[in-house]
Amino acid sequence: MKSVKEHVDYWDARYAKQKYNTVLHVDSTKSTKDRMRILSEWDHANPMIEAAIAKHRQIFGPRQDVRLLDFGCGVGRWYPILSSAPNGNPDGAFRYIGVDATKEAVELSRSKYGNHFVRVAPMEPLPFPDNHFHAIFSCTVLQHIVLAEMLAHTVKEIKRVLSDKNGMLFLIENVHTSKPLSHIHFRSAEAYRYLFDLENLAEVGSVVSVGQRHAVMVGKT
Ligand SMILES: C[S@@+](CC[C@H](N)C(=O)[O-])C[C@H]1O[C@@H](n2cnc3c(N)ncnc32)[C@H](O)[C@@H]1O
Repeated sequence: MKSVKEHVDYWDARYAKQKYNTVLHVDSTKSTKDRMRILSEWDHANPMIEAAIAKHRQIFGPRQDVRLLDFGCGVGRWYPILSSAPNGNPDGAFRYIGVDATKEAVELSRSKYGNHFVRVAPMEPLPFPDNHFHAIFSCTVLQHIVLAEMLAHTVKEIKRVLSDKNGMLFLIENVHTSKPLSHIHFRSAEAYRYLFDLENLAEVGSVVSVGQRHAVMVGKT
């Protein structure tokens, strides 16, 4: 990926072709068995996400305005978990906002889950004030940011909008050791810790999907 335009065009083309199946490549070229297997591999992330969310949400008590950003939300795959109330207490849910750079992704998310999704431009500031979110979640997005200038901008913006007190950063990224591809850059968990300058960003588990390991990382400001 050599330019911002190429990055944007890549995602536009992928969503135009595969719609809801863009994210996990579970399109009709795969057998039903393979599709089910790929989908179920990601179920391993659910308990890790649920536990981290429930624990972090407890810090704030029964307030309505505790905000979570799903950065690069895709088709809203994680909306049901991230917006649900831990232990069934409706006062205890996060207020969810998903952002994505691809128009089609935001439209697909909205048509499935409602108006919780906003389109953002890759090299523009995120449309939120400093310290706005109590938690930021991002799954398999940063690994696709290959351009150094876009990565630096994105990390800076995520850090800016994450609360500098008790803010939780939750990342799931491909840490498979392989040569970079044009659309994917494999980084280690240490590299993410360094990028965000968050010493306590720790690997709490992993998800192996299509034979590649994705580190599940949680840190607090
Ligand atoms: C592999 S998908 C992951 C989607 C979702 N997080 C999930 O796990 O299902 C990567 C997503 O990142 C989005 N994306 C790529 N670059 C972005 C950027 N600079 N800012 C925001 N979203 C971006 C793409 O449009 C795509 O929806």
